[in-house]
Amino acid sequence: MSVQATPGRLVTFEGIDGSGKSTQARLLADKLRGLNRPVHLTREPGGSPGAEEIRNLVLTGDTGRWSAETELLLFTAARRDHLEKTIEPAIARGETVICDRFADSTRVYQGATRGDLRGVVDRLHAMIIGREPDLTFIIDMDPEVGLRRGLARAGSEQRFEDFGVAFQETIRHGFLSIARDNPDRCIVINGDRSPQEVAAEIFAHYESRA
Ligand code: ADP
Ligand code: TYD
Repeated sequence: MSVQATPGRLVTFEGIDGSGKSTQARLLADKLRGLNRPVHLTREPGGSPGAEEIRNLVLTGDTGRWSAETELLLFTAARRDHLEKTIEPAIARGETVICDRFADSTRVYQGATRGDLRGVVDRLHAMIIGREPDLTFIIDMDPEVGLRRGLARAGSEQRFEDFGVAFQETIRHGFLSIARDNPDRCIVINGDRSPQEVAAEIFAHYESRA
């Protein structure tokens, strides 16, 4: 009989574009690896070969390329593949999965910004995904700062950044509202500080919740 590993945890990073999620996800993964803890760093949309193909469809092209409904289905399809192929196997092996964006992004981007789709988002999540993170860091900041950072590293995946500052302000408040509704798993972090200061606070919270 094989020995079963203690299941790992799912830790997600959320926030507006340019808030420092990718940087902080990487810094937390590096820190844990330095302590010899098993970690799998991943991202959404993407994180498995099939989901990376969907990422390419959904993040490139003009802002009107997909309706909110189509977008919701594409993000959900990508998440399901990512869960099956990457997240669940890693958790079963006892790894901490650190994911740059997850279902809260869908709740906010598709559920709160383009038509009143939030009820559909929640039903689809319950039917197809059915899993919440164990811990979520919401990196909060002024959208002007986030957009300046985002534009500094402008590339082809611009579809959402192209919606502008008012859109990012709506997104920011969407995440803060999720944090208020889910205090058991969400921690809001001020992202407008040096990457090292932000990382130190995140690691302290991570350890206190372990
Ligand atoms: P996100 O994943 O939230 O879009 P990134 O981690 O990719 O954000 O960061 C966006 C840009 O801002 C990158 O060029 C990154 O190097 C820079 N950056 C990240 N964190 C900070 C910080 N605390 N202070 C200043 N610049 C930062
Ligand atoms: P990401 O690559 O994390 O962008 P950034 O590094 O600029 O924050 O995510 C790409 C975009 O996809 C981002 O603008 C948010 C959007 N998105 C959704 O609209 N719904 C989702 O479910 C996810 C995961 C992302």
